[in-house]
Amino acid sequence: EAPRRWALRGDLLDFTAAPRWGDTESPAVRFDRDHWLLIEDGRIVGRQAQAPDDSWVRKDHAGQLVLPGFIDTHVHCPQLEVIASYGTELLDWLQRYTFPAERAFADPARSHAGAAVFLDALLASGTTAAVVFPTVHKVSAEALFTAAAARGMRLITGKVLMDRHAPDGLRDDVAQAERDCVDLIDRFHGQGRNAYAVTVRFAPTSTPEQLAMAGALCRADASLFMQTHVAENRAEVAWVAQLFPDARSYLDVYERVGLVHERAVLAHGIWLDAVDKSLLARRGAQVAHCPSSNLFLGSGLFDWPGAQEAGFPVSLASDVGGGTTLSLPRNMGDAYKVQALRGERLTAWVALHAATRGAAEALHLGGEMGSLSPGCMADLCVWDWAHGPVAEARDAVARELHERVFAWMTLADERNLAACYVAGRQQV
Ligand code: GUN
Ligand code: ZN
Repeated sequence: EAPRRWALRGDLLDFTAAPRWGDTESPAVRFDRDHWLLIEDGRIVGRQAQAPDDSWVRKDHAGQLVLPGFIDTHVHCPQLEVIASYGTELLDWLQRYTFPAERAFADPARSHAGAAVFLDALLASGTTAAVVFPTVHKVSAEALFTAAAARGMRLITGKVLMDRHAPDGLRDDVAQAERDCVDLIDRFHGQGRNAYAVTVRFAPTSTPEQLAMAGALCRADASLFMQTHVAENRAEVAWVAQLFPDARSYLDVYERVGLVHERAVLAHGIWLDAVDKSLLARRGAQVAHCPSSNLFLGSGLFDWPGAQEAGFPVSLASDVGGGTTLSLPRNMGDAYKVQALRGERLTAWVALHAATRGAAEALHLGGEMGSLSPGCMADLCVWDWAHGPVAEARDAVARELHERVFAWMTLADERNLAACYVAGRQQV
């Protein structure tokens, strides 16, 4: 059990605002070397240079990096075991690997075991909150909510809606899906740190009638989240144009039914045009950028600076099993390489902010998580600045803060994780 009052010593790093693209020195960065974070009843209540008095249990992580827990805004629980599957792009990959794996989650025992393994793997990677796709099966969402509550994690999920273009055992129908959503919302949405997301897999696997039902759920309750995929792969975009000839664009399929709103999380968004981008900004909807997945599935190179120009939020996500790692630092390293291929440069500040405060604020949860500010839940991770001789040698010669943190983000993974706390309780 966690002590009621405890204090953590380390190098505290978080953000007070959004850093500007390209700034390696930024007023938005808050770095307090060798400071103490005070935690009471699972919440951060203070940060200070001097050691607290003896009424506080002390955990001394001097010389280690303390960051807010990472927020993975797009990841698939049932796809852990198809991670690293060879040889295909999105549409073939779904048919050949992903759909068969998801069918197994019809079994409640498989759903519950899968949820536990998955959330423990997120925590072991330094991710303390997530927006998660389960499967079409109601029990797969129940299992995630239950397992997240047991760990104290902020979890946003909802049963996947798919009533066409999917194999037997993976399709629902509009009426039953609506009843399942309503029941799950009643039982889990707003309970503790659980929240419901209306979860449309992607436009091709829902009929227009099911999309309309999903939009009606969102319109009836503005506190609901929405998650889906958009404009990931060129063949997918062409298929959507064929299936929805009246829509102006892929994003417009969702917009017309009321699914693009301020609690919407749209994964990928690689093949969006200027009208789409300004719509996202107007609605306050976020794109979950999934660099590891986009590289692995050969989907394309996301225009991150274009998103900043258009003014819509970008968060960072693993998209496992399309992505090849749950580690958000490794995804930051991939995100840098994606921008490098576009002739752009991603700073450590923009990357880290997207995985912490930026994601939290885009989800309207900035008062709860994403920074090391008094009032936030104590969702935080302690990291070794370097793991192994190569990273240690690199860290030793880093001069200014951005150089050091950039090398960390490029080289770190779950082996750097020294401890992980969720709502003040140690989980790793
Ligand atoms: N589009 C529809 N379903 C999926 C999925 O499971 N993964 C990815 N990356 N894209 C999708
Ligand atoms: Zn995905």
